[in-house]
Amino acid sequence: MHLTAEEQKMLDGAYGETVRRSMKVLVALGEIYGADHMIEVKNVHSPGVSYRVAGDAGLGYVEDASKDAVFQVPMTLNTIGIDEKDWKQIGFPEDFSCKQLELSRAYEKMGAIPTNSCTPYLNGNLPMFGEHVAWGESSAVAFVNSVIGARTNREGGPTALAAAITGRVPAYGYHLDENRKGTHLIRVEVDLKTDKDFAVLGYFGGKLAGKDVPVFEGIKRRPTLEQFKALGAALASAGAVALYHVVGFTPEAPTKQDVIGDEIQPVVFDQAAYDKVCEKFSQKGPIDFVVLGCPHVSIREFEEIAGLVRGKRLNSDLWVCTSRMVRELAERMGFVEDIQAAGGEIICDTCPVLCCTLTQRGYKTVATNSGKMAHYAPGLWNLQPVLLNTAECIQAAIDGKWGE
Ligand code: F3S
Repeated sequence: MHLTAEEQKMLDGAYGETVRRSMKVLVALGEIYGADHMIEVKNVHSPGVSYRVAGDAGLGYVEDASKDAVFQVPMTLNTIGIDEKDWKQIGFPEDFSCKQLELSRAYEKMGAIPTNSCTPYLNGNLPMFGEHVAWGESSAVAFVNSVIGARTNREGGPTALAAAITGRVPAYGYHLDENRKGTHLIRVEVDLKTDKDFAVLGYFGGKLAGKDVPVFEGIKRRPTLEQFKALGAALASAGAVALYHVVGFTPEAPTKQDVIGDEIQPVVFDQAAYDKVCEKFSQKGPIDFVVLGCPHVSIREFEEIAGLVRGKRLNSDLWVCTSRMVRELAERMGFVEDIQAAGGEIICDTCPVLCCTLTQRGYKTVATNSGKMAHYAPGLWNLQPVLLNTAECIQAAIDGKWGE
């Protein structure tokens, strides 16, 4: 691999052991994927920052790195394992929480921005079209590649850390023009209206495309930011999609011809296909738990949820998961009070899918508007899911049941 003089100095140890080790990781990765040079990245969004994922080995590695390295580019942190402020009250175990706080502090010592969110683009890390970045967290990667048109592979914790320490990634995968074309064409014949509709389409597309690049044609109205967020999260969890295109609405796909060849025949997403996905997530009866905010809710979603619960009393537990920044805004606007008055909880910094407190609560069923949560809930927590739109989720929380 060709390295610039500066990159060679990093690899030779001129900037210390952590920089040397980081560049070695990236060179090895580049050689595996056939990269012939490095690319400078503008910023990093790091996954793997939850102690549940990193464990003691990860904590030791990051603490060691923080002794002699600082980040060369801005790095935001993905969801961590706890709510940093309310962990005791919510019931996170003390030893786990202390380890998480140690891990977060080690990242921050190197310069990390503690967004603790899977929606960094709502929290101050908003790349520009065409910029090279190094992001992890599957839903965020799908968003930044597809909706913004910045360029990243799906980084893991170690490679994101190495990228932030060196400011580089190897040039392969979605950094290169030739890998950003569509591989599967999906003709959408359903009139998509709600967040759930986009989650259902994402689930369908993810199963079809796997780790490749689906292209959607036939969507009639420009999706909202929140709908794109729901689509990408479901695509990235039902499959491993890191990049998709929506003809007419995402920046690399002004026309179908820009992103996919005429020889690829479309697969139709019609009402029958929609209903088939819904059948998988169709729990009926008592609902113990309702989760909104996978990916983390925006301020507009907060407003919608607050409006739906205002003056009501919930009969299921409700989690609204978000970043602390968005929560602050929601608090100032009175939305937090509305949700808490109805009996809902606002959970910041962390991720309902990887949340170690869920087992203690004895839930059996979950309602969610998230294709990602619905996909993981049975396998990870033995929770039977129903996939609903936001208004239906709140109705299920008010009634304490769904579909009876
Ligand atoms: Fe975010 Fe966790 Fe869902 S990281 S997308 S809330 S699985």
